Amino acid sequence: MRHLLFLHLLGASVWVGGHLVLLFSVLPGALKRRDVQPVRAFEQLYERVGIPALLVQIVTGVWLAGKWLPHSQWFSDSPIAHLVQGKLILLAFTAVLGVHARLAIIPKLDAQRLPQLGVHIVLITLTAVAFAWVGTGFRFGGLF
Ligand code: HEM
Repeated sequence: MRHLLFLHLLGASVWVGGHLVLLFSVLPGALKRRDVQPVRAFEQLYERVGIPALLVQIVTGVWLAGKWLPHSQWFSDSPIAHLVQGKLILLAFTAVLGVHARLAIIPKLDAQRLPQLGVHIVLITLTAVAFAWVGTGFRFGGLF
């Protein structure tokens, strides 16, 4: 259990940290210079640890959730079930944002579409932070 939580926290550091760096350090410079290159360069470097980190989050997260609540109760009406549902909704949102970025934004990315990518980066970062916030709820019995 502790090893699972350790891996989950390690993956969370990479996923949340990487997106915060992208949002606050890489994106502002790219927008100012109207240059997509820094974003592309970051994504290429980050991908190698970011995607495995997300996969680790899914595997360890589903495993941990199973320890908190049997799968049969994941969709019931209790504070812990609501947290599991929250995680799954955030995961679905992450997947939609990821697919949309891959298929609709990144292939045609140019200076004009940079603000659109910026909105996307804000949303994915907020989602990442929300993942961590919902996660802390398990030990405190609810979302707030
Ligand atoms: C990038 C995605 C994710 C991030 C950043 C994230 C982050 C976190 C954080 C910071 C915690 C707090 C750990 C603690 O209580 O000490 C946590 C807990 C937890 N997360 Fe996630 N999480 C992610 C994805 C998921 C997914 C997909 C699931 C699956 C349903 C999940 C299930 C859980 C569970 C069950 C806990 C409670 C662990 C415990 O305290 O024993 N997480 N998460």
